[in-house]
Amino acid sequence: MNLDRETAVALLNEKVTTEHIIRHSYAVEAVMRKLAQKFDPENEALWAMSGLLHDLDNDLVDWQSNPSLHGPKTVEVLKEIAFGDETMYHAILAHNPATKTSINTTLDRCIYAGDPITGFINAIALVYPDKNIHSVKVKSITKRMKETRFAAGADREAMWSIETLMPFNEFAELALNAMKEISEEIGFPKPE
Ligand SMILES: [Fe+2]
Repeated sequence: MNLDRETAVALLNEKVTTEHIIRHSYAVEAVMRKLAQKFDPENEALWAMSGLLHDLDNDLVDWQSNPSLHGPKTVEVLKEIAFGDETMYHAILAHNPATKTSINTTLDRCIYAGDPITGFINAIALVYPDKNIHSVKVKSITKRMKETRFAAGADREAMWSIETLMPFNEFAELALNAMKEISEEIGFPKPE
C-alpha cells in the first residue's frame, strides 16, 4: 500500500488551489498523527495520510450545490493512483455526513471530530491580540465550545463526539499541541 508522504503532498498541491484548505489539510494531518500515536500507533502513516488528504476534492467538485460529491471524488482520485486502502477511503467518506457513510472505526471517528477542531482552534487564535496559536490555552477551547455563536460553522456535535473515545479536554490539548508543532506551516510564526 502506498502511503508515501511526498506523493500525498504533491497530489494535494496539484489538486487543491485554495490556500487555506492546504493549511487545513496539514493541520488535520498533524492532529491525526497524534491521535494515531494514542489509538493505533502501528498505522500512524495511514492515519496521517487520511487526515492530509480528506479534503483533496475541495476544488474538484461543486460540493456547495451537491454536498454528497465531497468524499467520493477524493476516493476516486486516490484509487486511480492506488494510494491508501479501504479503511482510509471509508474514513474519508464518513467525515462527510452527506455521503451517508456510517462512522464505524476509531479512524472514522477521529477524522470526523479532528476535522472541525482545527478550524475551531484557528478561529480562537485569531481573537487573541497577537492572533497567534501559541497564545491559545486548552481552557479557552473548552470555554468557546459552549459559546455556540462563536465560530458557529465549527460543528460542535462532531467535536463532542470524540468523547466516545477520550475526554474532550484531552482531545483539545492534543489537537492544540499538534497544531503548535507545525505552526509555521499553517500560518502562525513561532514566538520569539
Ligand atoms: Fe476538512
